[in-house]
Amino acid sequence: MNLEIDQDSLTAEIEELAAISEADPPVVTRIVFSPTDLKARAWLIARCEKARLAVRQDAIGNIFARWEGSEPNAPAVGTGSHIDAIPNAGKYDGVVGVLGGLEAIRSLQRCGFRPKQSIELLMFTSEEPTRFGIGCLGSRLLSGTMTPDAARKLVDKEDASLEEVRRKAGFVEPLEDVELGSVYYKAFVELHIEQGPLLEQRKIPLGIVTSIAAPASFRFSIEGAGGHAGAVLMPERRDALCAASELILAIEDAAKASGAIDTVATVGICNVFPGAVNSIPSRVSLTLDIRDTDLARRDTVMRAIEAARDAIATKRYVSIGEELVNADAPSQCAPEVVEALGQACAKHHFASMKMVSRAYHDSLFMSRIAPVAMLFVPCFKGYSHRPDEFASPEDIARGALVLAETLASLAS
Ligand code: GLV
Ligand code: MN
Ligand code: MN
Repeated sequence: MNLEIDQDSLTAEIEELAAISEADPPVVTRIVFSPTDLKARAWLIARCEKARLAVRQDAIGNIFARWEGSEPNAPAVGTGSHIDAIPNAGKYDGVVGVLGGLEAIRSLQRCGFRPKQSIELLMFTSEEPTRFGIGCLGSRLLSGTMTPDAARKLVDKEDASLEEVRRKAGFVEPLEDVELGSVYYKAFVELHIEQGPLLEQRKIPLGIVTSIAAPASFRFSIEGAGGHAGAVLMPERRDALCAASELILAIEDAAKASGAIDTVATVGICNVFPGAVNSIPSRVSLTLDIRDTDLARRDTVMRAIEAARDAIATKRYVSIGEELVNADAPSQCAPEVVEALGQACAKHHFASMKMVSRAYHDSLFMSRIAPVAMLFVPCFKGYSHRPDEFASPEDIARGALVLAETLASLAS
């Protein structure tokens, strides 16, 4: 089998998709079900159809592009990722797994490979949590990790429900139809940029992911008392933003004190009400994103944060509400898929290293219904979720080649 990746056309496709953005280049922003996202989806479907793949979309907008195998009723081999992008993002997060997956399939077609199990490319809806506050919507529903009822309760910042938004985008079937069950895929492999610096620092071109860290997210709402910035004296204040500041620092301390480098906690959103220069903040809402490779340790850190929350509320005479958005368990990748990736690297004499994924991915949820592993390619300084995110065409093509080899071995 003489597998060859068309690096130039893969690079050109990544550039073409990057141009379908809500922001000016080099910034990429593509929020789920926005007109830009719908345009990007149509563009992707056209590329898949050009590759003679049979395309279907489910009720949440996950796209499946299938190359039918000689045993079409056997469980399929899946690959793919996402094309939505957070505000002020770059070109590669998710996109490399979708377009690299498509090019891997085309390279297998070109060299005359004939799959026994069907090979299916997936584009997952809303891996990013930007619009509905929770990530991996498509894969959560596919894997049954989120119930349709829970999904129907989601609303965006404009108070538009997921139901309303998806229907407007043309996805009208019941969400109950999305779940796939555990016999649908024989295996699932996701190609992705590392989003960390290790491969680049160690000059190793490929990372084989053996476990995916567990994310949880929470919303805190702090209620104090507002008032005139000149007239209310310091001893009388119940400033919600001062309480929030203490809570943010307590979160940082708790994550640092966990004793493990794998514990990370981030407050990425802080909304202050009323947000006037001469008014004491009366209300603040915060988001917390906390992750670990060890579920028990993450829970212990969370208990420490909650103890600090209560102490701050008492000391500052404010109330601090806490709402759980999601708390997911970490995932171990499947040894047989890890092994298939390792053999594909060895066959092409590429060095690789085993690693943990600290970002979450749709693979975390696909692992609930299928044997899963991931393949990472290096990215410049580990930058991701920013416009200067960069992965070289050579590194991406190498990843697509190993992916193609792995899909071939899993689908034979
Ligand atoms: C995914 O984008 C993540 O935040 O890990
Ligand atoms: Mn991302
Ligand atoms: Mn991603």
